[in-house]
Amino acid sequence: MLTVAQAIQARHSIRRFRPDPVPSEAIRQMLEAARLAPSGTNSQPWRFIVAREAEERRKLREATFGQRQLEEAPVVVVCCGDLKAYEAATQGQRRRELEGVLEPGETRSQTVYGRLEQMSAEQLRRANVRRALIDVSLAVGQMMLTAVSLGLGTCWVGGFAGPRVRELFSLPETIVVVSLLAVGHPAQAPERRPRLPLEELVLRPSF
Ligand SMILES: Cc1cc2nc3c(=O)[nH]c(=O)nc-3n(C[C@H](O)[C@H](O)[C@H](O)COP(=O)(O)O)c2cc1C
Repeated sequence: MLTVAQAIQARHSIRRFRPDPVPSEAIRQMLEAARLAPSGTNSQPWRFIVAREAEERRKLREATFGQRQLEEAPVVVVCCGDLKAYEAATQGQRRRELEGVLEPGETRSQTVYGRLEQMSAEQLRRANVRRALIDVSLAVGQMMLTAVSLGLGTCWVGGFAGPRVRELFSLPETIVVVSLLAVGHPAQAPERRPRLPLEELVLRPSF
């Protein structure tokens, strides 16, 4: 089993896949890694569709302006966020759970949550879409590293026509499609893509 550091080193976007099938157990482990991800207020907005059918993958390729890896990969995980996870009814329960981990007397609910309650419906929707993008992205990152640890490759595809993907799976407006994750056995071993040096990334030289 790879360490997390080894999986991070070994991960590259894979765009060519062998046709070998991906076992359901591997997909289950990837989904389990997503399930355990952190999320704001523990909202857990991630929702997934595992697309294996050739016809579905062909349509997903079309929805990504022809990106071949989606048709070639034996599995595409459609990674979504459910905006309903941030609705008051669900959040009430999540907040009550969270109160249990705060120190007695902490007033987070009156401050952070109070701010959310003052927003207009449009502001709230935009804020929730942003939250969904952050929460779901973290979960997908965990899925990608888990895939590497299982000998699988992934490619995060973010270049897609949202309405077409939504239509393909009859998804309601409350579901935001965040990523199409191609998953399969790699048929290539890409070089590491260039990365900025650390000095350019830290805004204060000491750490
Ligand atoms: C938000 C996001 C969107 C991406 N969209 C695409 C995409 O539409 N097609 C694609 O081939 N790769 C896509 N990628 C993969 C990036 O091109 C890739 O991660 C980057 O070039 C670094 O290479 P590496 O993943 O091999 O380290 C995306 C990655 C992210 C995080």
